[in-house]
Amino acid sequence: MKTSELVPSLSKSELALFERLDPKRLPRHVAVIMDGNGRWAQRRHLPRVEGHRRGVAAARETIETCARLGIGALTLYAFSAENWRRPKAEVDFLMRLLREYLRRELPVIHKNNIRLSVIGRAEELPRAVREDIERGMKLTAANSGMRLVVALNYGARTELVDAFNAVLEETRAGASNGELAGLRVTEQMISDHLYTAGLPDPDLLIRTSGEQRVSNFLLWQIAYAEIHVTDVLWPDFNRARLLEALLDFQGRERRYGGIEPASSN
Ligand code: IPE
Ligand code: IPE
Ligand code: MG
Repeated sequence: MKTSELVPSLSKSELALFERLDPKRLPRHVAVIMDGNGRWAQRRHLPRVEGHRRGVAAARETIETCARLGIGALTLYAFSAENWRRPKAEVDFLMRLLREYLRRELPVIHKNNIRLSVIGRAEELPRAVREDIERGMKLTAANSGMRLVVALNYGARTELVDAFNAVLEETRAGASNGELAGLRVTEQMISDHLYTAGLPDPDLLIRTSGEQRVSNFLLWQIAYAEIHVTDVLWPDFNRARLLEALLDFQGRERRYGGIEPASSN
């Protein structure tokens, strides 16, 4: 997808926001906590699931806009490892919605050169969901455009536990007892074994619905992410709100512990 395809479709107010963006200083990786579907529905006296349905449209618009802007990676928090605590009917609905989304949107994702991947404990998801995900990942594996990462049954603490265990397993397999006794874990070893291995850390974390918390999302990776919290509920999050988040990001001074702004972003 190209920015040139984005511009003609922008409304006047979106264009005004877009023109303020510096195309050279876009985040390489945007991560989003898509929150507030239930409240959106509640305010309209609709069932919570209606909010989830509308949330899918917001996700589609965000994916399309990020891809057209040339953002390298977009990670969407779709279902947390803690979301199983919800009523079974809601969980079942979310799984159905995800399958519906994948079936409908996969051709579009593929056509736009987007590469799909999933982070989280996929093995605990219903088999039908797993199969749809695998099909999507296979189909788009060779695509060279934006990385679309869907966090499903994802929890950051679980991810860290899985990473440490993977490091241990690999070392046990290849090392003698003496080497094991001297084993030291490094930052690089940890990041290389996270579900997100190979992706740059998010530069920008967006959370909708005003909640000032990270809810067990990418704890390691967001160490130096800029955080944009908006009161907008996820189903109302659209292109203009995304452009505002990107402008907010570009207005930040990133120092990484130093005293001068870092040269990039
Ligand atoms: C986010 O919306 C979607 C998921 C967590 C799956 P919520 O369902 O959490 O909506 P609120 O927070 O109850 O409004
Ligand atoms: C975070 O939202 C998870 C997703 C957006 C998938 P929650 O609604 O589950 O988070 P809490 O419970 O408000 O922290
Ligand atoms: Mg919520």
